[in-house]
Amino acid sequence: MHEIAILGTGYVGLVTGACFAELGNSVICIDIDVERIDGLRRGEIPFYEPGLEELVHRNVASDRLFFTTDYSEGLINKDFIFLCLPTPPSSNGAADVTILRAAVARIAEVIQSSDVLVVNKSTAPVGTCQSLQRLISTVNPRLAGVQVLSNPEFLREGSAISDFMSPDRIVIGAEDRYAAERLRQVYEPIDAPVLITDTKSAEMIKYASNAFLATKISFINEIADICEKVGADVSVVAEGMGLDKRIGKAFLRPGVGYGGSCFPKDVMALAHLGAIHGADPKLLKAVMDVNTHQFRRVLFKLREQLGYIEGRTIGVWGISYKPNTDDIRESPSVEIMRLLEQEGAEIKAYDPVAMPKASRRLPNVRMCRNVYEVAEGADAVLLLTEWTEFKSIDLKRVASIMRTPIIIDGRNVLDPLKAQEAGLHYVGVGRGKVRKYREVESDALIHPDGEWSTLSGED
Ligand code: UDX
Repeated sequence: MHEIAILGTGYVGLVTGACFAELGNSVICIDIDVERIDGLRRGEIPFYEPGLEELVHRNVASDRLFFTTDYSEGLINKDFIFLCLPTPPSSNGAADVTILRAAVARIAEVIQSSDVLVVNKSTAPVGTCQSLQRLISTVNPRLAGVQVLSNPEFLREGSAISDFMSPDRIVIGAEDRYAAERLRQVYEPIDAPVLITDTKSAEMIKYASNAFLATKISFINEIADICEKVGADVSVVAEGMGLDKRIGKAFLRPGVGYGGSCFPKDVMALAHLGAIHGADPKLLKAVMDVNTHQFRRVLFKLREQLGYIEGRTIGVWGISYKPNTDDIRESPSVEIMRLLEQEGAEIKAYDPVAMPKASRRLPNVRMCRNVYEVAEGADAVLLLTEWTEFKSIDLKRVASIMRTPIIIDGRNVLDPLKAQEAGLHYVGVGRGKVRKYREVESDALIHPDGEWSTLSGED
């Protein structure tokens, strides 16, 4: 059992705290937001994350998980202090470490022993751990021995708890082997490969991983665009590519672009980091350009169908940047609605969980109770987040209530044939012409002209 303090109760901090408590440690989560801490003490989770509420309640009831706004109370006599704080982009694209530095300066004023390990989980520029370590000894020279380690998180919103408990890898960056071994012990109950390295390499692993995943998405989005032009089907293309183990299937789903609190800011921060050190990160810039262009492509498609957008009523299904979260930060759907507003469209929208957050950000968008209310009288509907419930929409009903039955499926969720049979004009992403496949085996399909395909029926 370890004594752990977590600074920051956002997605990363709260999930990390609750999971460490679940593993049997005594955990105190600290935040300067009084309302948030009061809410957590009453058992209120400040955001939607499947399974988190139950996990927090269980560990609070077992006296393993505590919340405070008081640094002095929270930081004394701890084995580990985890930093889970925001590093938002500054105006030049670099990650802003002001909050991180302020918190570490406060730690240096409060703690009394050099035995504690300070572990940074926030995504921060390469070199941050070393600079935080220097900061501690500047603020309090008696603490010159305190080690600051890097331990990047790879949690996906929507599956953060299982990502924490069964990760693909645990990365520990330390300048001191003994400190790295101590941190490894905290993760002992978790069955995953542990990579121990220096702090700069660990910090770089986080940026490089996110940038690579974003690259895969922009790559498949560009391939989808070419597929549309030449009449190929990107789902089959991605499947065929993914069967090559060197490529892998994951993150090859074309869509309306990546969003969220990590990818956009991390790719930008890495490009900035490279540039200030004399590198020329052309590929990273292209990844960002393709992503921004992907939002605009939805409007091109809409204009192609409707001729003009001004004064049209456009319905939007899905607001969060991906399913199973109410997070709308950097959501492609929000960006697309902003572009539509600029073009003078009337917008109606529905999302299973993100509407309370969205209505504050998009006051001119009419929030609806369900997908049908959105479709009613709309000139076109855009499907922008792949929520499972959208797969079972009654498409005939939708076609009958729209003013013009046009569906732009930005996530390839709907079955194009069924949509067409229901009377909708269907436009997907990189799906070429809609063809009929005849099923010949459970997992094999045959094309009408006799060519085989191993498409396993994702759609
Ligand atoms: C991501 C990383 O996966 C995680 O390791 C890191 O710690 C934080 O950032 P998250 O932002 O929760 O996690 O979402 P993720 O599931 O990775 O999706 C990011 C974006 O990419 C979403 O907008 C999603 O719709 C998009 N995406 C993902 C695609 O467009 N196509 C894909 O094939 C996969």
